[in-house]
Amino acid sequence: MPCYVRLMHKEDITQVADIDHEAFPAMWPPANYGDELRNRLAHYIVACDEGKTMAEFGLEAALEKGISGLASKIRRLFNHNRFFGNEPYSSDRQYISGFAGFRLIAEEAHLTNIAVREAYRQQGIGELRLISVIDLAAGLNAGIITLEVRVSNTAAQNLYRKYGFTQTGLRRGYYLDNREDAVIMSTENIASASFQAQLNRLKQAHSKKWGIPLYQVIR
Ligand SMILES: CC(C)(COP(=O)(O)OP(=O)(O)OC[C@H]1O[C@@H](n2cnc3c(N)ncnc32)[C@H](O)[C@@H]1OP(=O)(O)O)[C@@H](O)C(=O)NCCC(=O)NCCS
Repeated sequence: MPCYVRLMHKEDITQVADIDHEAFPAMWPPANYGDELRNRLAHYIVACDEGKTMAEFGLEAALEKGISGLASKIRRLFNHNRFFGNEPYSSDRQYISGFAGFRLIAEEAHLTNIAVREAYRQQGIGELRLISVIDLAAGLNAGIITLEVRVSNTAAQNLYRKYGFTQTGLRRGYYLDNREDAVIMSTENIASASFQAQLNRLKQAHSKKWGIPLYQVIR
């Protein structure tokens, strides 16, 4: 499953809203991604499965209805080759496996969202997305990255902790659907030598684990 990470475009909104709905079913309606794209403070990226076009996805969805398991076997035939880049694309044809975004306000990048389609989880894609967010934020001279995450969301918290986020606060009853508390997590200065050294170690480990080339920063 070769994977390509690039900036989000308006043609991606339908798929991104779909992933948002799958990942956050209680948070309906999803964020207005059209507004987000027009917001100069907001920066969104998507990862595309280069092994699959939307046309193939339509075929696979049909197969999944009729022949259970065949589609997942087809998926496993793709190898993992993920990298960042900036090459020409045709958004309407690309199959998006996940997205992430942040707003940059006064050198603080606030991670607003990160989500991976269920079928693509635990394959290093969320981690790849977080790496690209950190690189993009660093390229925009962000100092720290901060976010809120549900206290029950251990998968996301583990991901953030792995990349140096620590708990810096708690917002009681933050989530309106069930009044769940939010843990506030933040990095140290992402431009610091210690953070960058650890980030490089994590990138190398991720690259080795998933068999992908080292990363280029998105521009
Ligand atoms: C959180 C999320 C983005 C992780 O994406 P992913 O592609 O499945 O994660 P990865 O495969 O890259 O895993 C990276 C790290 O995340 C953590 N992690 C991921 N899934 C996990 C799970 N099910 N349980 C525990 N830790 C998990 C681990 O630390 C993992 O590192 P490791 O492989 O060294 O153990 C994904 O679960 C998701 O989309 N969840 C729904 C949306 C969401 O909750 N977003 C966060 C909002 S704050």
